[in-house]
Amino acid sequence: MATRTILNDSDPTLRKKSRVVDRFDDRLHQLIDDMKETLIEADGVGLAAPQVGVLRRVVIVDDGERMLELINPEIIEQEGEEEGPEGCLSSPGKYGMVCRPVWAKVRAQDRFGNFFEVEGEGIVARCFCHEIDHLNGVLFKDLVTRMIDPSEWEDDDDEDYTLPEGYEPPDR
Ligand code: NI
Repeated sequence: MATRTILNDSDPTLRKKSRVVDRFDDRLHQLIDDMKETLIEADGVGLAAPQVGVLRRVVIVDDGERMLELINPEIIEQEGEEEGPEGCLSSPGKYGMVCRPVWAKVRAQDRFGNFFEVEGEGIVARCFCHEIDHLNGVLFKDLVTRMIDPSEWEDDDDEDYTLPEGYEPPDR
């Protein structure tokens, strides 16, 4: 395994549409393993392959219990809508409020090509949407209703206000 460089949001690669994965080979497995290591090192919640310069439909999401490997992921069901703070490993130091579903179900393939479904709510649903957007060249800053300053939650002791926790804490 090795970490890969995360592209900045000004890189034109992040505006391209990623291609469907049809070969579930060693090269894919290497990409997945590298992305997981890169995500751990960056202390993020999710990472999409275009962020490391590979235009393939591969996403890693840390749902709090495990690192989900989502190949060719699609949102097949979603419920509700809520505005919440969001950031991106490709946009260090930038945070904004984005509307996302409260709950989402994703259909994807594993590293061997087997289909499976997984659901998530709150920050996990948000992350599914954010990372799948990356596969279509969409960045969170395109969807932001207003940019926010990290200090808006840095000094906030409200235990219920936990959404930003997953997305790159501002002091990193
Ligand atoms: Ni992102």
